[in-house]
Amino acid sequence: MSKPEFTLRTDVYPAIEPELFKGSLNGKVAFVTGSGRGIGREIVLALARSGAAVAISGRTKSQVEETTQAVLSSASGVKAIGVVGDVCSRTDQERMVKEVTESLGPIDILICNAGTNTFMPFHMTDPDEWWKQMEIMVKSPTELTRMILPMMQKRNSGTIIYTSSRAAGADLPWAAGYSCAKTAITRFAGILQNELNILQKDTFGHDTNGISVFSIHPGEVKTKLHETAFPQKTKDEAPYVIEHMAKMAKMHPDFKAELAAWTCVYLSAGNGAGLEGRLVDCTRDIEEVKKHVTATPRPRITNACG
Ligand SMILES: NC(=O)c1ccc[n+]([C@@H]2O[C@H](COP(=O)([O-])OP(=O)(O)OC[C@H]3O[C@@H](n4cnc5c(N)ncnc54)[C@H](OP(=O)(O)O)[C@@H]3O)[C@@H](O)[C@H]2O)c1
Repeated sequence: MSKPEFTLRTDVYPAIEPELFKGSLNGKVAFVTGSGRGIGREIVLALARSGAAVAISGRTKSQVEETTQAVLSSASGVKAIGVVGDVCSRTDQERMVKEVTESLGPIDILICNAGTNTFMPFHMTDPDEWWKQMEIMVKSPTELTRMILPMMQKRNSGTIIYTSSRAAGADLPWAAGYSCAKTAITRFAGILQNELNILQKDTFGHDTNGISVFSIHPGEVKTKLHETAFPQKTKDEAPYVIEHMAKMAKMHPDFKAELAAWTCVYLSAGNGAGLEGRLVDCTRDIEEVKKHVTATPRPRITNACG
């Protein structure tokens, strides 16, 4: 079966309409990394509006505090805490998970969203800075998963979402570190889902696996990520990169952060059947994609990046 053209979405649309999810996450605890600003900020606001208690995190204390206040004042009865830390530090990871679970309870929804990007030709990149992207967007989400997964496995319940990118499915130039990291975390989501599908039945004796893992492409959203993506070295020594990226940017619309945020709510509220383990492209109508995926025979060996 050939892949149909799915409807392009740039903002909330009927399937992810906020009103549909009122109370759908009541009693759930969500921890979202990189949620002091940008896409993560919209994700915590949407999760809280749907009833979840949320933990907001990032390194910039003022942003974490401001977003926590925004969430708390968004509705009555909302529970939210801010946890400040670097996702690359093991000490910070452990402290943040401890603070979240002690204040709000076991984590039901983990969204690893913290990320950074640099556009620069590979031959000009500094090896340590290049590798740092793997630490932020691969090592930190996998290590946080290692810490939080046992809470979900015991209860056979949970949702894990990794903010990936379109870069996981295409050989886009000038961001090799970023693209490799997003590809790796997307592949990891697919593998983890397959492992859990086996383990939750065989090891823990459940009839079915209750833990869903997804990666998402949020769409190209105007955030600080784009402001900081062109370091001085690129501006001075590789201005052609900036010109090329400006041309690429004209080829797609601007997507609203709410599109990814409410897609995360949709998936966390148990609507992602058929999409588990996959890279969910938030810019395409999720109901149409689900219909296509569920009508297509599942290959014996799945491909999260495909
Ligand atoms: N915007 C887009 O067009 C786009 C497209 C595809 C994918 N994405 C992905 O979407 C995610 C969110 O990006 P965004 O566009 O919202 O960018 P953003 O506005 O720059 O937000 C990034 C967030 O990650 C946090 N962060 C970065 N490094 C961190 C670290 N070491 N420890 C803890 N937190 C850290 C930042 O907080 P601090 O700096 O305060 O730590 C911030 O809260 C990223 O994974 C990005 O790759 C974005």
